[in-house]
Amino acid sequence: GLKKKEVNVLCLGLDNSGKTTIINQLKPSNAQAQDIVPTIGFSIEKFKTSSLSFTVFDMSGQGREGQAIIFVIDSSDKLRMVVAKEELDTLLNHPDIKHRRIPILFFANKMDLRDALSSVKVSQLLCLENIKDKPWHICASNAVQGEGLQEGVDWLQDQIR
Ligand code: GTP
Ligand code: MG
Repeated sequence: GLKKKEVNVLCLGLDNSGKTTIINQLKPSNAQAQDIVPTIGFSIEKFKTSSLSFTVFDMSGQGREGQAIIFVIDSSDKLRMVVAKEELDTLLNHPDIKHRRIPILFFANKMDLRDALSSVKVSQLLCLENIKDKPWHICASNAVQGEGLQEGVDWLQDQIR
């Protein structure tokens, strides 16, 4: 059939937020890792949607070229929400990102945990409404069960087409 359009995505967010777990869930089941260990440096992963073929840079740094960003937040980690905001602000001010209309998909992850904040609350704490020059979207997710991921990736696909 037709070759799918190739898209590079950066997956960013604090350590332990669930980045690798999310990417793992987006891969076909026969390609999924059974055990997720903390990522050292970065790792390059691939997954496909109906019309696109994504290459994901699963990393904690920033500043690489990408056509989209997935930014993962541990919704239950209230203590480090301010650190996540700092990380996001640094990203948004990065010269490679600042003046580009690059779509950002936020996952308010770990929504299954009892003390997780809602995606609306996470959005408020990160001041997402201040992002006016880029399309963005936030989804509550539970990466362990794979919940909420499809909605996010569908949104991302629509932004890129
Ligand atoms: P680094 O590679 O260290 O940057 O972390 P990461 O962001 O890749 O996080 P990782 O995917 O390694 O997940 C960290 C831990 O959180 C693991 O124990 C996961 O099983 C757990 N985890 C990830 N997503 C969820 C979720 O939605 N709910 C719950 N309860 N746990 C999650
Ligand atoms: Mg990781």
